[in-house]
Amino acid sequence: MANPVASKIIGTGHYVPPTVVTNDDLAKRFDTSDEWIQQRTGIKERRYSKPEDTTAHMGALAARAAVEDAGLELTDIDCILLGTLSPDVTFPGSSVFVQRELGLHGIACMDIRNQCSAYLYMVATADAYVRAGLFKNVLIIGSEVHSTGIDFSDEGRDVTVLFGDGAAAAVISASDDPKVGVLQSCLHADGAGAELLWIQNPGSREFPHRAPESMYEDKSVYPGMDGRAVFKWATRKLPEVIREALDKSGYELDDIDVLVPHQANMRINQMVAKQLGFPQEKVVHNIQKYGNTTAASVGIALDEARKDGRIKEGSLVCLAAFGSGFTWGASILRF
Ligand code: UT7
Repeated sequence: MANPVASKIIGTGHYVPPTVVTNDDLAKRFDTSDEWIQQRTGIKERRYSKPEDTTAHMGALAARAAVEDAGLELTDIDCILLGTLSPDVTFPGSSVFVQRELGLHGIACMDIRNQCSAYLYMVATADAYVRAGLFKNVLIIGSEVHSTGIDFSDEGRDVTVLFGDGAAAAVISASDDPKVGVLQSCLHADGAGAELLWIQNPGSREFPHRAPESMYEDKSVYPGMDGRAVFKWATRKLPEVIREALDKSGYELDDIDVLVPHQANMRINQMVAKQLGFPQEKVVHNIQKYGNTTAASVGIALDEARKDGRIKEGSLVCLAAFGSGFTWGASILRF
């Protein structure tokens, strides 16, 4: 039998934990303000997990919603890809815990380590697997628990105000129609920026012990970020990769109905749209409610835009993300 000619997102879902943490809540814990956070990032609040809402459990909840939305049974899924920088445990990857919770024993599982652009890498990987005939219905999941790994002191305020917890999922399935689905993916990385946005410890390159006792004292267990450098890279690379995806797919900017970018900072996304000459009203923003949920952010925004009718059957959608690694990418999809 011939391999499928296309792969298509046929269902999406998301889950965010119920606990809302406002900017004013954070201002009670360290030196920051609602005004600073909103002005610089657009964020008003984010969600924090309780112990039961692990990365894998939230991923499983988002996955159930996506499979139901696709009109499939869980048993139709034959592969799980999971993007996260906050796995439940160091190893094994969190995808097997999701698989176990969903009762899908035996199907393929893989964790994708690409932080904020994980969703784009998962879309491209699932598309390639499906078109190669390896799997028929791939579940992609982005899930993060940031709140247990950030620095709630004045020193960590630049990063801590940005992040929130949550999960998103999508089902990518084989299609016989070459005009729909994942039409183009462009992926890039540059390790030159690896230390500009990272968590250093615990890490196997630490000798003689990978979890040095000093790691809480020197704060190397918390995310470290050169925010200005990340901002500059993101606002340069995102327009570049969106143009590349358009060129390769043969579409023009005017053809795009909705742009769903990674939610790292509302100012980054506004600047990207301005640089491209893309209408601001066609850009999806939900960072106000959730902050930066890293591997989940594109998926949560995509699910909300589908459910509220901004993305319809036939819509041409561009997904784009930039983040730690550095890694970045863009996809063009016809729904
Ligand atoms: O998925 C990728 C993840 N990360 C990103 O995309 C981050 C990209 N970068 C950014 O979004 C911005 O760089 C930030 C929002 C992180 C910071 O905004 P900025 O305009 O670049 O601020 P800055 O780092 O240049 O800091 C300006 C001031 C500093 O004070 P002084 O030196 O001017 O007195 C900071 O200490 O703001 C201070 N500051 C804060 N003040 C209140 C830094 N963080 C905070 C804070 N609350 N949370």
